[in-house]
Amino acid sequence: MKTVILTGAGISAESGLATFRASDGLWENHAIEDVATPRGFAIDPDLVQRFYDQRRRDAAAAEPNAAHRALAEWQQVDAELVIIAQNVDDLHERAGATRVLHMHGRLNSALCLACGARTPWTGELIGRPACPACGRPRLRPDIVWFGEVPYHLPEIDHHVSAADLLVVIGTSGLVYPAAGLAALARAHGARTVLLNLDSRGDEEDFDEAHFGPASQVVPTWVAAHRG
Ligand code: OAD
Repeated sequence: MKTVILTGAGISAESGLATFRASDGLWENHAIEDVATPRGFAIDPDLVQRFYDQRRRDAAAAEPNAAHRALAEWQQVDAELVIIAQNVDDLHERAGATRVLHMHGRLNSALCLACGARTPWTGELIGRPACPACGRPRLRPDIVWFGEVPYHLPEIDHHVSAADLLVVIGTSGLVYPAAGLAALARAHGARTVLLNLDSRGDEEDFDEAHFGPASQVVPTWVAAHRG
């Protein structure tokens, strides 16, 4: 039985990290196009660097919650279970998960615009530090912005197409290609489950849907499913 989990901002909300669409299209008081597009970075790189430096600090200060832990524990006994994360925090890993595909990148990584190297990064980028690979001060957050191609797509397609069960947790289902993965899994015969705070108005597209905070719904559903 192959299980694939797709998570979004809702799974980290109770760890204190803001979701994207909770406040009128603003993310931590910024328009998404200002801080999550290549154009926003070209117009005001310092604003974007400061923004992600703060997100990196917030994520480092946050703790995994019961939903992250329930998935990590499940993964420890199911060698085939893969987590596809839209989130750029590392709370799945800090809960103990080991097979996580971060399709929108990671805060703890820097991407060099000069040489293309990716470097683990826990500090700030606002001071234009040198790239450890080429020495040039051209690092940006290793985050997939709108208009850029998500990471790991062939691997994600492979896992989702082969899944017997796809569980979608805490995501609005508005950003593609992540939003299309449930339909892809279903087209290949998988059972699909939605666990979200509230209705997204598309539960008929899932075989099963349960609503409530992830820290409650996820451990309860995982325990019942695993039996
Ligand atoms: P959104 O902010 O769009 O959606 C969060 C979802 O989580 C909503 O459906 C909420 O109802 C739900 N939610 C909120 N709190 C919850 C809780 N405590 N428990 C369970 N569910 C809860 O975030 P995403 O769908 O993750 O992309 O956004 C997708 C992508 O858009 C992000 O990865 C990011 C963003 O712009 C990039 O950065 C490229």
